[in-house]
Order: sequence, then structure tokens, then C-alpha cells
Amino acid sequence: MTTQSRSDIAGSTDAVILVGGKGTRLRPLTVNTPKPMLPTAGVPFLKHLLARIQAAGIQHVVLGTSFKAEVFEEYFGNGEDMGLEIEYVVEDQPLGTGGGIRNVASKLRADTVMVFNGDVLGGAELGPILEAHHRNDADATLHLVRVPDARAFGCVPTDADGRVLEFLEKTEDPPTDQINAGCYVFRRSVIEEIPARRVVSVERETFPKLLEEGRRVFGHVDNAYWRDMGTPGDFVRGSSDLVRGIAPSPLLEGKTGEALVDESAGVRDGALLLGGTVIGRGTEIGAGCRLDDVVVFDGVTIEPGAVIEDSIIAAGARIGANARIRGAVIGEGAVIGARCELLDGARVWPGVEIPDSGIRFSSDA
Ligand code: GTP
Repeated sequence: MTTQSRSDIAGSTDAVILVGGKGTRLRPLTVNTPKPMLPTAGVPFLKHLLARIQAAGIQHVVLGTSFKAEVFEEYFGNGEDMGLEIEYVVEDQPLGTGGGIRNVASKLRADTVMVFNGDVLGGAELGPILEAHHRNDADATLHLVRVPDARAFGCVPTDADGRVLEFLEKTEDPPTDQINAGCYVFRRSVIEEIPARRVVSVERETFPKLLEEGRRVFGHVDNAYWRDMGTPGDFVRGSSDLVRGIAPSPLLEGKTGEALVDESAGVRDGALLLGGTVIGRGTEIGAGCRLDDVVVFDGVTIEPGAVIEDSIIAAGARIGANARIRGAVIGEGAVIGARCELLDGARVWPGVEIPDSGIRFSSDA
């Protein structure tokens, strides 16, 4: 049992964040912007995670980047504005999750390393996960969350002491409701054992191998808020949960409510903003619009009477008067004409222009 305090443990831990994925499920939003940099409740998604890491007392953060690597450093620099020290490592070819972790090994200084998937919106306290890792003298500790329906996820059963028994792929009949939450603590020497310079999946290769070798792999289970922001539906829901305070973020304390509107945005009288809607910088919302659970990026124009639900409208798009949009993704600079209807799964690519009354798209039409 460790005698270190929680702040000592966090202070002697390095954080690694994997942000090298292509984010294909969120296309076209990720054509020009890496998924962790998409605006979420007013700031790049990754900033919420960095704020949680900083609040937990971890200072040194290494970002494992690949796709659009330069965008991260341009925004976060050396991290000092956030009270962090951020370093960057770029993979010329994406190395997968395990390969990405191995690739940052030369930057690590601490013996304990906490690794995060850069697209998970989580509410777990990091201190107790680190404490469990030390208490168990573990080689690796996985954060596990309980979900109501585990069929869509790989699940991870543990024994009464929290020791991981197996890593299971998605199955119709999961034996446990505990799933891998995409946050791991490693002993640094274990990271150095991952094969270098080749693609490795931490879930499919590294963890199963550690179990085979009888290494000390533990799970720390909780019921904290958790969402993988990989699909448009989850991205919209995660953003609105942040705005409404259902998902915690140190960046939004005291600012949560039904909607979050940037102070430079213009919202005309009679426009209704509901369900955790977020309105970005310089965006204009016309009179009589109704937006429910919508993420609107910067510089968007929405003309009077438009009704939009459960959708993402990327920067610079224009939505015509009385358009109806539900469950859709509108790419950067796209123009949706007046009275168009885009429903349930529609995705409009950047710059595409749809004329007035030009389309009625619905998967159930
Ligand atoms: P999809 O293409 O939509 O599946 O998204 P993705 O490419 O982000 O993949 P996934 O959601 O499975 O990735 C989980 C996390 O690992 C995300 O934070 C990714 O940024 C990160 N990631 C995935 N592949 C790599 C990689 O090859 N290198 C690095 N450094 N990170 C990766």
C-alpha cells in the first residue's frame, strides 16, 4: 500500500494523449480538422481533457499525433497558458493506439504514465484510478465504466480483487457491463516493451499479451460520465451534456445551462435555443429559429425560421430561411437553401450549395 498522497502521485505521473486518428466516422467535419480539435461547448474538445488533467495535478503531457499534427501545436503551444508542459511527437505513418503510445516513450520522464484516448468525454476522477494502480502495484490499470448496454463495446471482466480476467471483443451476450473506457495507467517499463516502429493495437495486442504473460493488469471500475465522441450522434450529445453540466468540465464551471452562446454571436429576438445548443463566434441566428441540441461552429449564418435538431453545423455554413434539419452534419462553408429539408443521417460536404427548396432528404422518405 502506498503512503504517497494523491497530489504526490499525480505530480509524479506523465500524461499521454492519443490524438492521431483520422476520425473517419465524423467526416466531413474531420476533413480539415482533427477530431480532438473540433469545437465542443465553445473550445476544442481536447481542451476539456487537458483541463481535467491539469485539475488532477498532472503537469507533463505528451501528445501522440499523426493526422494533421501541426494543428495541435499551433493551438496549445507549450501548454503554459493552461499551467501544463505539453510536448508533441509525430508519427509519419499512423502506428495505431499501442504503436502511438510506444512512439512517445523517449519523451516520458515519470515511472507512472496515464494514457488517454483523445476522443473520450469522461467525468471520472483521475486520482482514484492512479491510487488503485499504485495500491495494486500494477503493471497496467484500465479505467472501466459500467454501461447499460455493453453489446457495442469490448468488455473487460475482472475478479473480486479487480484483476482483469480477459479482453473480449464486442458480443451479443456480454458477460459483464464493464467496458474499456480508453484511459490506462502503465508502468513506464511496460510501454518500453511494446514493439517500436510498427502498428500495434493496445486493445487487441498489448493488453492480451500482458495477460498471457501473467502480468499484473487491473481494472478500476466506476459509474462516471463517459462517452466516445466518435460519431455525429455522440458528438452532439456529448457537447450538449457539457453545456448542460451533465458531463463535467473545469472550463465550464458556473457557465452551464440550456444553451451556450459566444458573446460575439448575434441571436435575434424570438429565436429559441434549447437542449444544450452551442453557438460559436460571430454566428448569426435569425428571428423565429428553433435550435434544439445543435452544435453550431463559428461564422455560421442561420436565416429566420429555420428549425434544427440534433445536428452539427460547421464553420462558415449558411442555412436558408425555414430550412428543416434534423440528425445531420453540414460541412464547412456549405449553403443550404431556404425551405430545404435534411433529415436523419444527411451529411453535406464542405462548400456544397443546395438551392432554395432544392432537396428533401430523409432516410425514411
Ligand atoms: P474513426 O476513424 O472514426 O474510427 O476515428 P479514429 O481514427 O480517431 O479511431 P478511434 O476512435 O478508434 O481512435 C481512438 C483514439 O486513438 C483517438 O483518440 C485517436 O485519435 C487515437 N488514434 C487512433 N489511431 C491512432 C494512431 O495511429 N496514432 C495515434 N497517435 N493515435 C491514434
